[in-house]
This record gives sequence, C-alpha cells and structure tokens, in this order.
Amino acid sequence: MNNMGVGMAITGCGSAAPESILTNDHLAQMVDTSDEWINIRTGMKNRHIASPSESLSQLSAVAAKGAIAMAGISPTDIDLIILATSTPDDLFGSACRIQGLIGATNAVAFDLTAACSGFLFALITASQFISTGMYHNVLVIGADVLSRWVDWSDRTSCILFGDGAGAVVCQGVKDNRLLSFGMYSNGSQNDSLNLNYHGNGKPLVDNLTVQHGSYNPITMNGKEVYRFAVAKVPEAISKTMFQANLTADDIDWLLLHQANQRIMDAVAKRLNIAQSKILSNIAEYGNTSAASIPLALDAAVRDGRVKPGDIIAASGFGAGLTWGSAIFKWG
Ligand code: ACO
Repeated sequence: MNNMGVGMAITGCGSAAPESILTNDHLAQMVDTSDEWINIRTGMKNRHIASPSESLSQLSAVAAKGAIAMAGISPTDIDLIILATSTPDDLFGSACRIQGLIGATNAVAFDLTAACSGFLFALITASQFISTGMYHNVLVIGADVLSRWVDWSDRTSCILFGDGAGAVVCQGVKDNRLLSFGMYSNGSQNDSLNLNYHGNGKPLVDNLTVQHGSYNPITMNGKEVYRFAVAKVPEAISKTMFQANLTADDIDWLLLHQANQRIMDAVAKRLNIAQSKILSNIAEYGNTSAASIPLALDAAVRDGRVKPGDIIAASGFGAGLTWGSAIFKWG
C-alpha cells in the first residue's frame, strides 16, 4: 500500500469464449498429430475458436460486463480500462471500441501488449494508478484471438492456441489485497516467440522506398519457451511470496498462464505447492494468451472453488520474453 493509504482489491471477474470448439481429433485431420500426443505433451483436449463474425472486442465486452456486474458497480463508474492483447481488432487499439460497447462513458481506455504476460502486467499497471489515487475503479481485460495468427500447417504450434477473453474489476480500498508483485523481461530471448511484421520494399517516389506487407504467423521455439517458463516462473513467484512474507503453505491457489499442463505441474512441484491447488482450464481452452489467467480465475470463482479471502499466487509468461507474478487475496 502507498503512503496515500490506497490499496487495491479485485472485486469482480467475468469471461467469454467463442462457441466453436476445435478438438485434438480435428487437429489430427489437419496435421500429422494425434489426440494422445497432444494430451500427454500439453494436457489440452479442446480450444474455442472465434468464427469470422466474432471479434475480440465483442468477447471482451461480454467478459467486462460480467466483471462489472459481479463488482456491483455500473459501467459509468469505471475510470480506466486497460486491454491486454496482442491481437486487437484494430492495430490502433481495441480498448476504446470495448469502452463504447459497454458504455463506460467516464473512462479512459488504452491497450497494453505483453503477450501472455499481458493480463498480469495490466493488473499491476492498474494497481499503480489506483495506489496514486488517480483512479478508483479500473477494468482490466485480457483477451486474444490467436487463431487468426496461427500457422495451421505447423503442428508444433497450431495445437496450442485458442481464443477467449477475461476481465476483472480492480477497486481502491483501505485494506490492500494485492500483497506483492514483480514484472520482468529479457529482450535477448526475443527470437523464441514472435508474431513479426514482414514486408517487401515498395518504391514510393524519387528514391524513397517503404516496407509494405503484413504479419507473419506465430513462430515459436517450443523447447526454449518451456525451459524459460519452468525456470523463471517459480523464481518470480518465490520472490513475490518472500516480499509478501508468505510461504508455500499460505498459498490457496496457483493461477498460472495456461500454456502447458506440464509447465504448471513443474512450477507447482518446484514451489512445493500441491497439484490440487493449480487452477487449470487448459483441457477445455488451450493457451488463450492474455485471456488465460482471468478465464481460469472466473471459472474458479463462479463454481465456488475460490472464496473471498483466498490467497492466489498468479504468474504470466510468454513472448518478449516477459514474465511476472502477483499475489492477491480474492474479493
Ligand atoms: N504432434 C506429434 N508430434 C509432434 C507435434 C505434434 N503436434 N509437435 C512436435 N512433434 C514432434 C517433434 O517433431 C519431435 O519429433 P522428433 O523427436 O522426431 O524430432 C517430437 O514430437 C518431440 O518434440 P518436442 O518439441 O521435443 O516436444 P515437447 O515435449 O517439447 O512439446 C511443446 C512441444 C508442447 C510445444 C512444448 O515444448 C511446449 O509446450 N513449449 C512451451 C510453448 C509455449 O508455452 N508457448 C507459448 C508461450 S505463451 C505466449 O506468449 C503466446
């Protein structure tokens, strides 16, 4: 908590996913893979895939409305909207479109990009605006439609990704419930996971040339990302536990970016946290990038697993490479 006495509580959550489901058996019809291989190596069975008529903004608006309703406030009470995404409907940003869709007429809205760490980074950013007293009610959305950017002929990556959106409402309170956090990045490993712009030189006029093209599909060094995640995520969570003066026994739930069940299991093992405390929805949604943490949180809150006062250790990690951790008390 800062010296102005403003802490932060997460008081509502919501989520949304497209209806269409892509199964492991579907993928086996598209590339040389099998239900068994995918399930054993990743824990994934299904992913929800946006249809051509569904947009990231629409999914985000549904998630946002759910979070605002649970927090017991109205859209006009929202001061700030931060949309964490790598796949906006509009490269200029989609946060303002979502603001329009939900009628948050008193808010300012912007996008934040940090791949699969995006939701965590946006949550921490929200806490900074709240702790200075600048804003009181902040809507944080994590949403991605990576299905639009997957190379559907690359079996090493196309099996992993699905679409979705999740949101939380963060509010300024006296009794601070964000106990500690940390954010990290390592640009020297930037080549491990990319969604790069690629173009060709296009002559304009005189001797002026510009690059003209589009974005390449996702490229990923899966082994490299795996090694990075199982090393850095436990380290980051240990640091935040230490800062919050907590031990592994104090943690009620481990809420990790849903990239691979084996990564989640390895992180829990390293931290000496029981596997039963992992909040996982990876079998149903796959890796939904910035949406994965709030999607898993929303399901666990709505089915009653996560209760007010439970201590949650969350961690996001992904392209950048970026990673981060936050420990908070729910509700
Ligand atoms: N089906 C069948 N075989 C496959 C498939 C597939 N879908 N994909 C790869 N293989 C093969 C490989 O070609 C390899 O064959 P070989 O031994 O003949 O060369 C073999 O299976 C083993 O491949 P590995 O890459 O060693 O498999 P691994 O156990 O590492 O699993 C995986 C691959 C699932 C990608 C894993 O490395 C992983 O999850 N990495 C992390 C990826 C990740 O989390 N990325 C997202 C980060 S979040 C973000 O920011 C977007």
